[in-house]
Amino acid sequence: MKHLVRAVAAAALVVAAPVLAHAEPTIIKFAHVVAANTPKGLAADHFKTCAEAKLPGRVVVEVYPSSQLFDDDNVLEAMLLGDVQFAAPSLSKFNKYTRKLDIFDLPFLFDDLAAAERFQHSAAGQSLLTSMEDKGILGLGYWHNGMKQLSANTPLRVPADAAGKKFRVQPSDILTAQFDAVGALAVKKPFSEVFMLLQTKAIDGQENTWSNIYSQRYHEVQKYITETNHGLLDYLLVTSAEYWNGLPADMRTVLSGCLDEATGVNNKAAYDKSVGDKQKVIAAGTSEVLTLTPEEKAQWRDAMKPVWNKFKDVIGEDLIEAAVASNQ
Ligand code: LMR
Repeated sequence: MKHLVRAVAAAALVVAAPVLAHAEPTIIKFAHVVAANTPKGLAADHFKTCAEAKLPGRVVVEVYPSSQLFDDDNVLEAMLLGDVQFAAPSLSKFNKYTRKLDIFDLPFLFDDLAAAERFQHSAAGQSLLTSMEDKGILGLGYWHNGMKQLSANTPLRVPADAAGKKFRVQPSDILTAQFDAVGALAVKKPFSEVFMLLQTKAIDGQENTWSNIYSQRYHEVQKYITETNHGLLDYLLVTSAEYWNGLPADMRTVLSGCLDEATGVNNKAAYDKSVGDKQKVIAAGTSEVLTLTPEEKAQWRDAMKPVWNKFKDVIGEDLIEAAVASNQ
C-alpha cells in the first residue's frame, strides 16, 4: 500500500512538473524615486496589490521606491533593456525621447491641477501618450502630483528676491530658462540628492510640490516656502512598447485595469496631499509659508512667461494654445 501511495505521488509530481514550471510567476518591476507615502508611491503599491490579487500565482509585482532600483535619469534606458517594466517619471524627464512633453514645464501654463487634467484628457493631451512610440516607450496615462512651490533660506516674495541664488531643477531646459528669467542659477540634479544639497547649502533653494516638499523634509532645511503654484509636476506612466505588446492579451487586460485603479488612487492622493501636506508643513513650524499678493504673483508671471516664446517652436504653438484653453 505504502509503495502504491509513493508511486501515485511520484506520478503526480511527474505530471505536475511541467505545469509547475509553466506556472512560474512573471516578475513585474515598478521603479520610482519618491517615498511610498506619496501619490505615486501609493499608486504603485495599489497596482501591486491589485495585480497580484487578480492574477494569483501568475505575477509578482516588485515596487522599488526612493530611487532604490533606478534614478529617473536611467530608468527609461533600463526599461528599454527589460530591467524594469513600469515607471512614472515626471513629465520633465522625457526630453531625450520627445520635446513635445516639454509643454508641461512652461511656467504659469496651467491655473491649477484641474486645468492640467482637462488638457491631459483632451485629444491634444492624449496624442502625447504615443509621442515616444518610435523610441519604444509607451505612455499609458498621466498621474498627478501637483503644482510647484518655491523654497529658499531667504524669503522669496518677488522675482528680484531669487536673483543670484542657486536652485535645483529637474533635467529640463525650460526649467533652467525659467530661473534664468529671474536672474537665478538653475542646477539640474537628481531628486535623490536634493535634501543633502539643501542641507549642506550647496544650493539655495528648489521648486517642488507640497507632497514632495513634505515627504522629503525640505521644510526642515529651508526657512521659507512661497506658495507660487508657478508650474506643474505631473507624471507619465510608461512601459516599453515591446514588453506591453508581448504580454498575453488576458494579462494585459487585467494589468491595464489595475493601472486604471492605480491612477484613481494616485489622483485622489494628489488632490488630498496638495492641501494636507501643505498643512503638515505649516504645522511642523520649521519653515514659514509665504502667501503672495495678486500683485506679487503677477510679477513672477510677468518675469517667467517670456520663456514660452523661446520654446514655442520646439513644442508647437497649436499644442500651447490647446493647453491654455484648458484654463477655461
Ligand atoms: C523631482 O525630480 O523633483 C520629481 O520628478 C520627483 C518625483 O518623481 O516626484
